[in-house]
Amino acid sequence: MAVREIRLYPDPVLRRPAKPVTRVTKKLARLAQDMAETMYAANGVGLAAPQVGKGVRLAVVDVGDGLITLFNPVIVAREGTAVDVEGCLSIPKITAYVERAAQVTVEALDLEGRPFRVEADGLLARALQHEIDHLDGILIVDRATRLFREEEREGEEEPVAVEIDREELLRQEVAP
Ligand code: NI
Repeated sequence: MAVREIRLYPDPVLRRPAKPVTRVTKKLARLAQDMAETMYAANGVGLAAPQVGKGVRLAVVDVGDGLITLFNPVIVAREGTAVDVEGCLSIPKITAYVERAAQVTVEALDLEGRPFRVEADGLLARALQHEIDHLDGILIVDRATRLFREEEREGEEEPVAVEIDREELLRQEVAP
């Protein structure tokens, strides 16, 4: 296993919709394991393949209850709404308030290519929706109702969260 480089916004790979996996090959299983190691090394709770430069529908999630590896994840049911703060390993120092479904049911394939289903609420539901968004090239900057940037300030021990304009961030993306 190996820690891979996390692609950072505005890397265009983050905007490319990922392709479905037709078969969970050994190579893809190895990619999934590397992604898990990369996520843990970065203290993240989820990581999607485009974040390591791979355009395949694969994500890993661990909100503290164990690792979940998902190939071709699809949200098959959603219920309610919840707004909470999110970060993204590809967009350091930015936090966003994002409205998500409060509960989701996700179907996916596991490391052995077997179908499984997760019913989730709370942080797990949020993380699953965040990672599945990545597979469609959608980022928290698109869904945010409010965006904040952590800034170091002289005389302050902790970074200060400064509200920023979405357009200011999106301008960093160069038109293709
Ligand atoms: Ni993310």
